[in-house]
Amino acid sequence: MTDSKPSSNDILAKIRAAKAAAAGDGSEKAQSEAPAPAGAAPASATPPASPAAPKSTADILAAARAKAGGGAAAGGAPAAPSGGAAPSSTADILAAARAKAAPAGGAGTSGGAGASAGAPKSPADIMAAIRGGGATAAKPAAAAAKAEGSPKAEAAKVPAGMSAADMIKAARSGVPATAAAAKPALPSKPLAAKAPAAAKPAAAKVVESRRGFFGSMVEVICSPVVIAWTAFSGATLFSALATARFMMPNVLVEPPTKFKIGPPNDYAPGTVSTKWQAQFNIWVVNAEVDGAPIIYALSTVCTHLGCTPNWLEGEQKFKCPCHGSGFYKDGVNFEGPAPRPLERVGLRLAEDGMLEVDKSVKFQKELGQWSNTSSYVPVA
Ligand code: FES
Repeated sequence: MTDSKPSSNDILAKIRAAKAAAAGDGSEKAQSEAPAPAGAAPASATPPASPAAPKSTADILAAARAKAGGGAAAGGAPAAPSGGAAPSSTADILAAARAKAAPAGGAGTSGGAGASAGAPKSPADIMAAIRGGGATAAKPAAAAAKAEGSPKAEAAKVPAGMSAADMIKAARSGVPATAAAAKPALPSKPLAAKAPAAAKPAAAKVVESRRGFFGSMVEVICSPVVIAWTAFSGATLFSALATARFMMPNVLVEPPTKFKIGPPNDYAPGTVSTKWQAQFNIWVVNAEVDGAPIIYALSTVCTHLGCTPNWLEGEQKFKCPCHGSGFYKDGVNFEGPAPRPLERVGLRLAEDGMLEVDKSVKFQKELGQWSNTSSYVPVA
């Protein structure tokens, strides 16, 4: 008894041997004269009685058919092992042949239940029987056939998607189909050796240390305690400075009230100089007043509400842009809301021959102060 399943070659070899033995007995003559079983191969395929073994698979199959249907030669009707019709298909023939050639064939071959009674009919059934060990001597043929016949057993034994070629291969190799169908586990892929971390360059270390330092500094600066103390310190400092400023007297920083504006020759007769308008808020005028040429200094403050008028050379007048008051060259108002003439400031000829202005002194025409010699300098 062998554990391995018979291969096709073994089966064919056994069939050849049986054929040769039959030829020795002279029974092949009767077989050759017997009519071909129904549905079997044509007469030409039936091998003639010959001592030589069949050569081709077709011949072997024809001989097997003829042998399986041996009853026909004697009684005219096919003599199937189970009394049924002779095998008509190649699958049936192979099944019967396997059943016959199986080791310890007494259990489940043609003698007992036989291929016609319980043997599988289709190649899938044959493969299932082989897979389930039905062809081996260890399992009785009836039990094997019963187990193989149930769809549940087949579903459990036949893996889904397994081809017939795989089944035959598994049967020949003796490996259960389920095991053959199972894909071999791939060897685990060796893990690539982890490259050791390259030593960080010194520059990276410096950058990391700087980042760590700055990160720590930011955390410290942004901490609530630091923020609170910073705000408190700022408020305290601001209070101290405000107190110090409060303790100091208010000092109005103004330009000096007395200043020199150059010699009288710098001011041509009949002209209005705006040279000192921006710096000292005065106009210097060289004009004839009451028939006498004099130089005087007019304040640039409008007598209406304090705006600064503009000197219009073409119109020979001062024009206030705020409310339209107009003043002549000598400072007398003639239009607009201004209630009185412009004011003169103190002017004198200093010892050094320079004109000196004293803005601390004001002279008003309506008060008769323009006749004061301190309000003008005669032109020689
Ligand atoms: Fe000069 Fe009113 S301020 S006109």
